[in-house]
Amino acid sequence: MRLALFQPDIAPNVGTLLRLGACLGVAVDVIEPCGFPASDKSLKRAAMDYAERVEVKRHDDWAAFNDWRRSLGHRLVLVETSGSVTYGDFAFAAGDILMLGRESAGTPPDVEAACDAVVHIPMVAGVRSLNVAIAGAIVLSEALRQTGGYEHRDT
Ligand SMILES: C[S@@+](CC[C@H](N)C(=O)[O-])C[C@H]1O[C@@H](n2cnc3c(N)ncnc32)[C@H](O)[C@@H]1O
Repeated sequence: MRLALFQPDIAPNVGTLLRLGACLGVAVDVIEPCGFPASDKSLKRAAMDYAERVEVKRHDDWAAFNDWRRSLGHRLVLVETSGSVTYGDFAFAAGDILMLGRESAGTPPDVEAACDAVVHIPMVAGVRSLNVAIAGAIVLSEALRQTGGYEHRDT
C-alpha cells in the first residue's frame, strides 16, 4: 500500500500525511509540481522528525508518476468526493496506491479518468469536503485493515 499526493498545495497537510506514512509504514509518492518549496517551515513543523522515517518518492509530473505505477502494476485508487463507490464497500489490495487530490481544487477530470477506481467518504448533506490529510487517514486505515497491513505493527 502506498499514498500518492497529486500536486499538493498546502504544506502542513503534506507534513501531516508524511507523519501518517511514517507511523503506519506506508511510502508516500509526491506528484510535482507542489505549491510550495520543499524547505517550507510549516511542512517541517507538521512532519516533525517523522519525515526522516518515511519513504518518499518524488515524481516530476503526473505523466511520469502514471507511467511508473503502470510499469510496476500498481492499481491506482483515487480518493475523491466525486467517487462512485463508498470506501468501506471497496475491496482494496495490498499493492494499491491511494491517491489524494489538491486541497484547493481536487483532481482534474483527465487524471480522475486514468485511475482504476474512485472512492469517496460519505458526508452529511450540505458540506463540501474533508481536509485532505483527514480523508487520507480514513481511507488508508480501512485499506490497511482489509489487507492485513496492521498485522506487523508493534503497538
Ligand atoms: C478539500 S478536498 C477538495 C475537494 C473538491 N473535490 C474540490 O474540487 O475542491 C481535498 C482532497 O481531499 C480528499 N477528500 C476530501 N473529502 C473527501 C471525501 N468526502 N471523499 C473522498 N475524498 C475526499 C480528496 O482527495 C480531495 O481531492
